[in-house]
Amino acid sequence: MKVLQNSSLKPYNSFGIDVKAERFVSVSSLEELKSVLMGNYAEELFVLGGGSNMLLTKDITATVLHINLKGIKVVQETEDFVYIQANAGENWHEFVLWTLAHDYGGLENLSLIPGNIGSSPIQNIGAYGVELKDHFVSCEAIDIQTIEMMNFNAEECDFGYRNSIFKNKVKGKYIITSVTFKLSKKNHQLYTNYGSINEALEESGITNPSIQDVSNAVIRIRQQKLPDPRELGNSGSFFKNPVISAGAFQELQKEYPEMPHYKISENEFKIPGGWLIDRAGFKGFREGDAGVHKNQALVLVNYGTATGKEILNLAKKIQVKIQSQFKIALEPEVNIF
Ligand code: EPU
Repeated sequence: MKVLQNSSLKPYNSFGIDVKAERFVSVSSLEELKSVLMGNYAEELFVLGGGSNMLLTKDITATVLHINLKGIKVVQETEDFVYIQANAGENWHEFVLWTLAHDYGGLENLSLIPGNIGSSPIQNIGAYGVELKDHFVSCEAIDIQTIEMMNFNAEECDFGYRNSIFKNKVKGKYIITSVTFKLSKKNHQLYTNYGSINEALEESGITNPSIQDVSNAVIRIRQQKLPDPRELGNSGSFFKNPVISAGAFQELQKEYPEMPHYKISENEFKIPGGWLIDRAGFKGFREGDAGVHKNQALVLVNYGTATGKEILNLAKKIQVKIQSQFKIALEPEVNIF
């Protein structure tokens, strides 16, 4: 375990923002993690996982703690299901590919989501009609203050849309060290009705899809719409899809009858933020190296040398326009530091 001084965080955040960490330490075992938490650096820590859901706007003066805990193991098995524990530093998509290679079903719709296992419960990652919570059993986490190991089951995590207890009540209190999933071994339940999965399967001439086919379809759809962070810096959806009241929705629908929407209760509708930003004329907009992706307006991108502040300014500009044009407040989905 080495402590680096004045280390660039550019390789550690998918937006590719070049800020410095005054101190940077990467831990590969629970023992190393505990020793950091007990040591001199524990007073002020900045916990870094896959770095795929954050915008860094300034140098980090706290000690950056990179969670690099690796390992995947089967912890329990029945005839129909398997329980798999993955450590926090495993890459999410590589883990999904591992489950598919073993023919374990459940995570195929969540293929190609950037980030690591440890961050996945924090915002209850989701795509194409499936959310992490649908296959989550529990997670282990370490209390930063007391260095005690804790276990959280699904109910305790209080999952919501891109939300959990780790973003609210216990924010900053724990470091997630592993996550346990329950996946199917046979009779896999497929969710292909959402978005264009069925179309993508049809295009490939697949009528009786396997979980691997669904994963491949999701990968193809994502690659068409979403930029690859290795080629173009980004953090996926920058904003959440806003939820508005039925009254506000009816008013807007008069002016924009084509507006896509999902009814989520008698009095609430969810509107795709990407559509709002697109409609406001920002799709493909670029200001220096900060931009709005040309294929999916909910995604902000870094063309190379944008600073976090420049991306944030663009985000604010978009929020102001959406507020004035649609009377809707867009809320960031990424964490801003
Ligand atoms: N749309 C536009 N213009 C755009 C973008 C979208 O008109 O530039 C319209 C689309 O035509 C569609 C609707 O908006 O009618 C929804 O778009 P899409 O299916 O691309 O999904 P989304 O709601 O924008 C959400 C998640 C994504 C996830 C997809 C697929 C959020 C904040 N984002 O996006 O998650 O991959 O659904 O399930 O919920 C992420 O969280 O980082 C992420 C990429």
